[in-house]
Amino acid sequence: MAELEDLPSVGEKTAQKLRDAGFADMMRLATATPKELSVKVEIGEGVAAKVIEAARKAEKIDFETAFEVMERREDVGRITTGSKGLDELIGGGVETQSITEVYGEFGSGKSQISHELSVTTQLPVEEGGLDGEVVFIDTENTFRPERVEQIANAFGLEIENVLKNIHVARAFNSSHQMLMADKINELIQSGANIKLIIVDSLMAHFRAEYVGRESLATRQQKLNQHLHTLQTIANTYNVAVLITNQVQSKPDAFFGTPTKAVGGHVLGHASTYRILLKKGLSGKRIARLVDSPHLPEGEAVFKVTTDGLVD
Ligand code: GTP
Ligand code: MG
Repeated sequence: MAELEDLPSVGEKTAQKLRDAGFADMMRLATATPKELSVKVEIGEGVAAKVIEAARKAEKIDFETAFEVMERREDVGRITTGSKGLDELIGGGVETQSITEVYGEFGSGKSQISHELSVTTQLPVEEGGLDGEVVFIDTENTFRPERVEQIANAFGLEIENVLKNIHVARAFNSSHQMLMADKINELIQSGANIKLIIVDSLMAHFRAEYVGRESLATRQQKLNQHLHTLQTIANTYNVAVLITNQVQSKPDAFFGTPTKAVGGHVLGHASTYRILLKKGLSGKRIARLVDSPHLPEGEAVFKVTTDGLVD
Protein backbone atom coordinates (compact mmCIF):
# COMPACT_ATOMS: atom_id res chain seq x y z
CA MET A 1 0.00 0.00 0.00
CA ALA A 2 1.20 3.52 -0.78
CA GLU A 3 2.42 5.74 2.05
CA LEU A 4 1.17 9.29 2.62
CA GLU A 5 4.67 10.58 1.81
CA ASP A 6 4.43 9.03 -1.67
CA LEU A 7 1.61 11.39 -2.64
CA PRO A 8 2.67 14.34 -4.78
CA SER A 9 2.57 17.63 -2.84
CA VAL A 10 2.75 15.81 0.52
CA GLY A 11 6.05 16.26 2.34
CA GLU A 12 7.09 14.74 5.63
CA LYS A 13 5.56 17.63 7.56
CA THR A 14 2.16 17.51 5.87
CA ALA A 15 2.11 13.73 6.21
CA GLN A 16 2.59 14.11 9.96
CA LYS A 17 -0.15 16.75 10.15
CA LEU A 18 -2.47 14.41 8.28
CA ARG A 19 -1.72 11.55 10.65
CA ASP A 20 -2.23 13.76 13.70
CA ALA A 21 -5.62 14.80 12.38
CA GLY A 22 -6.70 11.17 11.91
CA PHE A 23 -6.02 10.76 8.20
CA ALA A 24 -3.36 8.06 8.54
CA ASP A 25 -5.23 5.80 6.19
CA MET A 26 -5.19 6.44 2.41
CA MET A 27 -8.85 5.43 2.05
CA ARG A 28 -9.87 7.81 4.81
CA LEU A 29 -8.06 10.58 2.97
CA ALA A 30 -9.59 9.64 -0.36
CA THR A 31 -13.09 9.93 1.03
CA ALA A 32 -12.55 13.28 2.79
CA THR A 33 -13.90 16.53 1.39
CA PRO A 34 -11.51 19.45 0.69
CA LYS A 35 -13.35 21.58 3.22
CA GLU A 36 -13.14 18.96 5.96
CA LEU A 37 -9.47 18.38 5.29
CA SER A 38 -8.56 22.04 5.18
CA VAL A 39 -10.28 22.67 8.53
CA LYS A 40 -8.94 19.64 10.34
CA VAL A 41 -5.38 19.71 8.99
CA GLU A 42 -5.14 23.49 8.68
CA ILE A 43 -4.08 23.60 5.06
CA GLY A 44 -5.54 25.60 2.19
CA GLU A 45 -8.59 24.16 0.46
CA GLY A 46 -6.71 24.09 -2.86
CA VAL A 47 -3.90 21.98 -1.43
CA ALA A 48 -6.48 19.79 0.33
CA ALA A 49 -8.27 19.14 -2.95
CA LYS A 50 -4.98 18.11 -4.61
CA VAL A 51 -4.05 15.76 -1.77
CA ILE A 52 -7.49 14.12 -1.88
CA GLU A 53 -7.28 13.77 -5.65
CA ALA A 54 -3.90 12.07 -5.34
CA ALA A 55 -5.19 9.73 -2.61
CA ARG A 56 -8.12 8.81 -4.85
CA LYS A 57 -5.73 7.94 -7.65
CA ALA A 58 -3.59 5.89 -5.29
CA GLU A 59 -6.65 4.01 -4.07
CA LYS A 60 -7.94 3.69 -7.65
CA ILE A 61 -11.26 5.32 -6.79
CA ASP A 62 -13.23 5.79 -9.95
CA PHE A 63 -16.54 4.83 -11.48
CA GLU A 64 -17.52 1.32 -10.59
CA THR A 65 -19.50 -1.07 -12.70
CA ALA A 66 -22.77 -2.38 -11.33
CA PHE A 67 -21.00 -5.70 -10.95
CA GLU A 68 -18.42 -4.14 -8.63
CA VAL A 69 -21.16 -2.44 -6.66
CA MET A 70 -22.84 -5.80 -6.28
CA GLU A 71 -19.59 -7.36 -5.12
CA ARG A 72 -19.21 -4.66 -2.50
CA ARG A 73 -22.80 -5.23 -1.40
CA GLU A 74 -21.86 -8.86 -0.88
CA ASP A 75 -19.56 -7.75 1.93
CA VAL A 76 -22.54 -6.21 3.76
CA GLY A 77 -22.94 -7.83 7.16
CA ARG A 78 -26.11 -7.97 9.25
CA ILE A 79 -26.53 -7.86 12.99
CA THR A 80 -29.53 -9.41 14.69
CA THR A 81 -31.73 -7.27 16.94
CA GLY A 82 -32.69 -10.33 18.95
CA SER A 83 -36.21 -10.19 17.50
CA LYS A 84 -36.78 -12.25 14.34
CA GLY A 85 -39.75 -10.11 13.37
CA LEU A 86 -37.75 -6.90 13.61
CA ASP A 87 -34.80 -8.46 11.76
CA GLU A 88 -37.07 -9.50 8.90
CA LEU A 89 -38.66 -6.07 8.75
CA ILE A 90 -35.28 -4.50 8.03
CA GLY A 91 -34.02 -7.15 5.64
CA GLY A 92 -32.23 -9.50 8.03
CA GLY A 93 -30.75 -7.27 10.72
CA VAL A 94 -28.92 -3.97 11.08
CA GLU A 95 -26.74 -3.58 8.00
CA THR A 96 -23.09 -2.54 7.66
CA GLN A 97 -22.20 0.29 5.22
CA SER A 98 -25.48 2.00 6.15
CA ILE A 99 -26.95 4.28 8.77
CA THR A 100 -29.99 2.86 10.57
CA GLU A 101 -32.10 5.32 12.52
CA VAL A 102 -34.43 4.29 15.33
CA TYR A 103 -36.79 7.02 16.45
CA GLY A 104 -39.71 7.29 18.80
CA GLU A 105 -41.02 8.96 21.93
CA PHE A 106 -39.46 8.58 25.40
CA GLY A 107 -39.53 5.06 26.75
CA SER A 108 -40.26 3.55 23.34
CA GLY A 109 -37.15 1.35 23.52
CA LYS A 110 -34.46 3.21 21.55
CA SER A 111 -31.82 2.82 24.24
CA GLN A 112 -32.90 -0.77 24.83
CA ILE A 113 -32.27 -1.62 21.16
CA SER A 114 -28.89 0.13 21.45
CA HIS A 115 -27.90 -2.00 24.45
CA GLU A 116 -29.15 -5.15 22.74
CA LEU A 117 -27.09 -4.52 19.60
CA SER A 118 -23.98 -3.68 21.59
CA VAL A 119 -24.16 -7.33 22.68
CA THR A 120 -25.45 -9.09 19.54
CA THR A 121 -22.71 -7.52 17.37
CA GLN A 122 -20.28 -9.64 19.36
CA LEU A 123 -22.03 -12.92 18.58
CA PRO A 124 -20.42 -15.22 16.03
CA VAL A 125 -21.68 -14.81 12.46
CA GLU A 126 -23.65 -18.12 12.62
CA GLU A 127 -25.64 -16.68 15.52
CA GLY A 128 -26.47 -13.38 13.87
CA GLY A 129 -23.52 -11.30 15.00
CA LEU A 130 -20.36 -10.06 13.31
CA ASP A 131 -17.84 -11.19 15.88
CA GLY A 132 -17.03 -7.52 16.31
CA GLU A 133 -16.50 -4.72 18.79
CA VAL A 134 -18.78 -1.75 19.38
CA VAL A 135 -18.46 2.00 19.83
CA PHE A 136 -21.21 3.49 21.99
CA ILE A 137 -21.48 7.28 21.91
CA ASP A 138 -23.72 8.11 24.83
CA THR A 139 -25.09 11.66 24.79
CA GLU A 140 -27.79 11.35 27.46
CA ASN A 141 -25.86 9.39 30.06
CA THR A 142 -28.19 6.42 29.71
CA PHE A 143 -25.63 3.71 28.89
CA ARG A 144 -25.82 1.03 31.60
CA PRO A 145 -23.23 -1.76 31.81
CA GLU A 146 -25.63 -3.62 34.13
CA ARG A 147 -28.12 -3.80 31.28
CA VAL A 148 -25.41 -5.13 28.95
CA GLU A 149 -24.66 -7.77 31.57
CA GLN A 150 -28.27 -8.97 31.69
CA ILE A 151 -28.48 -9.26 27.92
CA ALA A 152 -25.06 -10.91 27.59
CA ASN A 153 -26.16 -13.41 30.24
CA ALA A 154 -29.24 -14.29 28.23
CA PHE A 155 -26.97 -15.11 25.27
CA GLY A 156 -24.64 -17.11 27.51
CA LEU A 157 -21.69 -14.86 26.73
CA GLU A 158 -18.68 -14.22 28.92
CA ILE A 159 -19.57 -10.93 30.64
CA GLU A 160 -16.11 -9.46 31.07
CA ASN A 161 -15.23 -9.92 27.40
CA VAL A 162 -18.52 -8.43 26.29
CA LEU A 163 -17.97 -5.34 28.41
CA LYS A 164 -14.37 -4.97 27.22
CA ASN A 165 -15.51 -5.00 23.60
CA ILE A 166 -17.78 -1.98 24.03
CA HIS A 167 -15.91 1.31 23.71
CA VAL A 168 -18.07 3.89 25.46
CA ALA A 169 -17.74 7.61 24.89
CA ARG A 170 -19.79 9.89 27.06
CA ALA A 171 -20.29 13.00 24.93
CA PHE A 172 -20.77 16.21 26.90
CA ASN A 173 -21.83 18.46 24.06
CA SER A 174 -22.27 18.33 20.29
CA SER A 175 -18.64 19.29 19.52
CA HIS A 176 -17.43 16.57 21.84
CA GLN A 177 -19.82 14.15 20.16
CA MET A 178 -18.42 15.06 16.73
CA LEU A 179 -14.86 14.75 17.99
CA MET A 180 -15.52 11.27 19.38
CA ALA A 181 -16.92 10.18 16.02
CA ASP A 182 -13.75 11.46 14.33
CA LYS A 183 -11.63 9.47 16.76
CA ILE A 184 -13.22 6.16 15.72
CA ASN A 185 -10.85 6.10 12.73
CA GLU A 186 -7.88 5.97 15.09
CA LEU A 187 -9.49 3.26 17.17
CA ILE A 188 -9.99 1.11 14.08
CA GLN A 189 -6.51 1.82 12.76
CA SER A 190 -5.04 0.78 16.09
CA GLY A 191 -6.58 -2.63 15.59
CA ALA A 192 -10.05 -2.59 17.18
CA ASN A 193 -12.42 -4.71 15.10
CA ILE A 194 -15.33 -2.26 15.27
CA LYS A 195 -18.47 -3.54 13.54
CA LEU A 196 -21.11 -1.24 15.03
CA ILE A 197 -21.19 2.42 16.00
CA ILE A 198 -24.11 3.53 18.17
CA VAL A 199 -25.03 7.16 18.77
CA ASP A 200 -27.73 7.35 21.46
CA SER A 201 -29.14 9.91 20.96
CA LEU A 202 -27.95 11.73 17.87
CA MET A 203 -29.90 14.96 18.23
CA ALA A 204 -30.10 15.61 21.99
CA HIS A 205 -27.12 17.98 22.19
CA PHE A 206 -27.73 19.59 18.82
CA ARG A 207 -31.32 20.32 19.79
CA ALA A 208 -30.38 21.77 23.15
CA GLU A 209 -27.50 23.90 21.89
CA TYR A 210 -28.93 25.35 18.71
CA VAL A 211 -32.20 26.99 19.66
CA GLY A 212 -34.11 29.40 17.53
CA ARG A 213 -34.51 29.89 13.81
CA GLU A 214 -31.30 31.86 13.36
CA SER A 215 -29.09 28.97 14.48
CA LEU A 216 -30.86 26.30 12.44
CA ALA A 217 -28.61 26.58 9.39
CA THR A 218 -25.46 26.20 11.49
CA ARG A 219 -26.96 23.25 13.33
CA GLN A 220 -27.85 21.47 10.12
CA GLN A 221 -24.40 22.11 8.69
CA LYS A 222 -22.73 20.59 11.77
CA LEU A 223 -25.15 17.71 11.77
CA ASN A 224 -24.43 17.04 8.12
CA GLN A 225 -20.71 17.00 8.85
CA HIS A 226 -21.23 14.57 11.74
CA LEU A 227 -23.33 12.22 9.63
CA HIS A 228 -20.80 12.41 6.82
CA THR A 229 -18.08 11.27 9.25
CA LEU A 230 -20.23 8.33 10.35
CA GLN A 231 -21.18 7.31 6.82
CA THR A 232 -17.56 7.49 5.67
CA ILE A 233 -16.44 5.17 8.46
CA ALA A 234 -19.33 2.85 7.63
CA ASN A 235 -18.25 2.61 3.99
CA THR A 236 -14.52 2.57 4.55
CA TYR A 237 -14.43 -0.15 7.18
CA ASN A 238 -17.67 -2.04 6.48
CA VAL A 239 -19.21 -0.95 9.78
CA ALA A 240 -22.88 -0.57 10.79
CA VAL A 241 -24.12 2.70 12.27
CA LEU A 242 -27.15 2.85 14.57
CA ILE A 243 -28.47 6.24 15.62
CA THR A 244 -31.42 6.94 17.86
CA ASN A 245 -33.58 9.99 17.51
CA GLN A 246 -36.39 11.84 19.19
CA VAL A 247 -39.75 12.85 17.79
CA GLN A 248 -41.64 16.09 17.68
CA SER A 249 -45.33 16.71 17.22
CA LYS A 250 -46.42 17.55 13.75
CA PRO A 251 -48.04 20.97 13.86
CA ASP A 252 -50.96 19.65 11.83
CA ALA A 253 -51.67 16.60 14.01
CA PHE A 254 -54.14 17.26 16.80
CA PHE A 255 -54.13 13.86 18.44
CA GLY A 256 -52.18 10.61 18.49
CA THR A 257 -48.51 10.15 19.26
CA PRO A 258 -45.92 12.43 17.73
CA THR A 259 -44.37 10.65 14.77
CA LYS A 260 -42.05 13.10 13.11
CA ALA A 261 -38.31 12.59 13.64
CA VAL A 262 -36.26 15.67 14.49
CA GLY A 263 -33.21 16.58 12.41
CA GLY A 264 -34.95 17.61 9.21
CA HIS A 265 -33.97 16.67 5.68
CA VAL A 266 -30.27 16.38 6.49
CA LEU A 267 -30.99 13.38 8.67
CA GLY A 268 -33.79 12.06 6.51
CA HIS A 269 -31.43 11.77 3.57
CA ALA A 270 -28.51 10.39 5.57
CA SER A 271 -30.23 7.40 7.11
CA THR A 272 -30.83 4.41 4.87
CA TYR A 273 -33.26 2.73 7.24
CA ARG A 274 -35.65 4.63 9.49
CA ILE A 275 -37.55 2.70 12.11
CA LEU A 276 -40.35 4.34 14.08
CA LEU A 277 -40.98 2.77 17.51
CA LYS A 278 -44.32 2.95 19.24
CA LYS A 279 -45.39 1.76 22.66
CA GLY A 280 -48.14 -0.85 22.65
CA LEU A 281 -50.13 -2.52 25.39
CA SER A 282 -48.47 -4.62 28.14
CA GLY A 283 -44.86 -3.87 27.30
CA LYS A 284 -45.23 -4.50 23.58
CA ARG A 285 -43.38 -2.35 21.07
CA ILE A 286 -44.38 -1.78 17.49
CA ALA A 287 -41.65 -1.01 14.96
CA ARG A 288 -42.55 0.50 11.62
CA LEU A 289 -40.11 0.72 8.73
CA VAL A 290 -40.32 4.12 7.06
CA ASP A 291 -38.80 5.02 3.64
CA SER A 292 -36.36 2.27 2.86
CA PRO A 293 -34.64 2.11 -0.57
CA HIS A 294 -35.59 -1.45 -1.40
CA LEU A 295 -37.82 -2.92 1.29
CA PRO A 296 -41.59 -2.68 1.60
CA GLU A 297 -43.02 -0.64 4.48
CA GLY A 298 -44.30 -2.84 7.24
CA GLU A 299 -44.51 -3.41 10.97
CA ALA A 300 -43.05 -5.81 13.51
CA VAL A 301 -44.06 -6.38 17.12
CA PHE A 302 -41.59 -7.25 19.86
CA LYS A 303 -41.21 -6.99 23.61
CA VAL A 304 -38.49 -5.56 25.84
CA THR A 305 -37.65 -7.98 28.64
CA THR A 306 -34.84 -8.37 31.15
CA ASP A 307 -33.19 -10.71 28.65
CA GLY A 308 -33.45 -8.08 25.94
CA LEU A 309 -35.64 -7.96 22.85
CA VAL A 310 -37.94 -10.92 22.16
CA ASP A 311 -40.67 -11.59 19.60
P1 GTP B 1 -35.73 8.15 25.82
O1 GTP B 1 -34.25 7.95 25.78
O2 GTP B 1 -36.22 8.63 27.12
O3 GTP B 1 -36.24 8.97 24.68
O4 GTP B 1 -36.42 6.70 25.66
P2 GTP B 1 -35.92 5.36 24.98
O5 GTP B 1 -36.70 5.15 23.74
O6 GTP B 1 -34.46 5.30 24.88
O7 GTP B 1 -36.43 4.29 26.02
P3 GTP B 1 -35.66 3.06 26.61
O8 GTP B 1 -35.05 2.27 25.53
O9 GTP B 1 -34.79 3.51 27.71
O10 GTP B 1 -36.86 2.20 27.16
C1 GTP B 1 -37.20 2.20 28.51
C2 GTP B 1 -38.25 1.14 28.68
O11 GTP B 1 -37.69 -0.16 28.41
C3 GTP B 1 -38.74 1.06 30.09
O12 GTP B 1 -39.84 1.91 30.27
C4 GTP B 1 -39.12 -0.39 30.24
O13 GTP B 1 -40.44 -0.56 29.75
C5 GTP B 1 -38.21 -1.11 29.28
N1 GTP B 1 -37.12 -1.75 30.01
C6 GTP B 1 -35.90 -1.27 30.28
N2 GTP B 1 -35.15 -2.14 30.98
C7 GTP B 1 -35.92 -3.22 31.15
C8 GTP B 1 -35.73 -4.48 31.80
O14 GTP B 1 -34.69 -4.77 32.38
N3 GTP B 1 -36.77 -5.35 31.77
C9 GTP B 1 -37.95 -5.05 31.15
N4 GTP B 1 -38.94 -5.94 31.16
N5 GTP B 1 -38.16 -3.88 30.54
C10 GTP B 1 -37.17 -2.98 30.54
MG1 MG C 1 -32.94 6.53 25.51
